[in-house]
Amino acid sequence: MTLNVFWFLPTHGDSRYLGTSAGAREVNYDYLRQIAVAADTNGYDGVLIPTGRSCEDPWVVASSLIGATSRLKFLVAIRPGLSSPGLAIRTAATFDRLSGGRLLVNVVTGGDQAELEADGVFADHATRYEISSEFLDIWRNALAGTGGEAGYHFEGKHLSVKGARTLYPAVQKPHPPLYFGGSSEAAHELAAEQVDVYLTWGEPPAAVAEKIADIRARAARHGRTVRFGIRLHVIVRETNDEAWKAADELIKHVDDAVIERAQSAFARMDSVGQRRMAALHGGRRDKLEVSPNLWAGVGLVRGGAGTALVGDPRTVAARMQEYADLGIETFILSGYPHLEEAYRFAELVFPLIGKRGAGPSSATLTGPFGEVVGNAYVPKVSQS
Ligand SMILES: Cc1cc2nc3c(=O)[nH]c(=O)nc-3n(C[C@H](O)[C@H](O)[C@H](O)COP(=O)(O)O)c2cc1C
Repeated sequence: MTLNVFWFLPTHGDSRYLGTSAGAREVNYDYLRQIAVAADTNGYDGVLIPTGRSCEDPWVVASSLIGATSRLKFLVAIRPGLSSPGLAIRTAATFDRLSGGRLLVNVVTGGDQAELEADGVFADHATRYEISSEFLDIWRNALAGTGGEAGYHFEGKHLSVKGARTLYPAVQKPHPPLYFGGSSEAAHELAAEQVDVYLTWGEPPAAVAEKIADIRARAARHGRTVRFGIRLHVIVRETNDEAWKAADELIKHVDDAVIERAQSAFARMDSVGQRRMAALHGGRRDKLEVSPNLWAGVGLVRGGAGTALVGDPRTVAARMQEYADLGIETFILSGYPHLEEAYRFAELVFPLIGKRGAGPSSATLTGPFGEVVGNAYVPKVSQS
């Protein structure tokens, strides 16, 4: 199997442990560049860059990394309602042109009312999805050149444009691909109608299968097909025992007060996806393996993606294959700390899932790969 594997840029901070400042590191341009270069040179297909008030701005981050990378795609979040369609269209076209067609767009409707209101967005959940739907109609059509020289006209309940078009078109046709996550009914309907790739956080395979079936059925009613991706953390080590020990280590500083504070903040959100993540562990640290090798410990304190695949390389590859068998083509992964784990995952798992990593790809070593033994000979490539 060859899967699309993305990594994640932690623009809200990075650390060795969750829920503490112990082992934390500053996320600045130099560090983000290191992670992006690690992802690019190791053969990851892209990086997801999140949006939110706890994150650096994703468009500025992505733009700053175009020149540091050569093949890596940037899955950059946009928030309809926060930016106008006209601005978003122009930003996307320019980014796609300057990066040589390396833009992917993640549409984020948002699920935290307080955060949205601080940004000046006072619409409720249903209205936000109406706005997202109108926004995407305009965005897609204007970038695709609908209406030709006269541009695209749209008059909606919330958004209207007259003669929208890009003089400098995006490289990717009809427009850079649209990715999108959301677990409410309105989200499924929007995915079915307008997006290219539906993303789910890492729920157990049976729940993911249900979501895929629902979105496929809705898309069929619109005469469309949708592709699927999943967002997971990963804790992979050479043995299963080591991986589970690393999972325990990751939350060793997390105490009940920190869990309580995080869970009550998540409970205030109106995000169905966030509720589904929280329900997996119920705030309890004693039942965190919610499906074989799927561990919900991350979600005790982290919002959004809250589960990790835990195991040795073969186990993790097999669990990924289970999701792939359901129709998942794209895996957006991360691990703490993001720089070291980008290397580790590529080294341990890429060979098992048909991906080229940064390591030696043939039995003949022609350059300084690995470490020369005793200044005398280059070790052979392991066939494992
Ligand atoms: C893979 C993935 C990535 C997401 N990235 C972000 C993000 O960067 N910022 C954010 O505020 N929400 C993010 N979300 C949340 C969704 O965009 C959506 O706002 C949320 O799930 C609420 O919608 P719902 O009630 O339909 O589930 C993400 C969701 C998924 C599945």
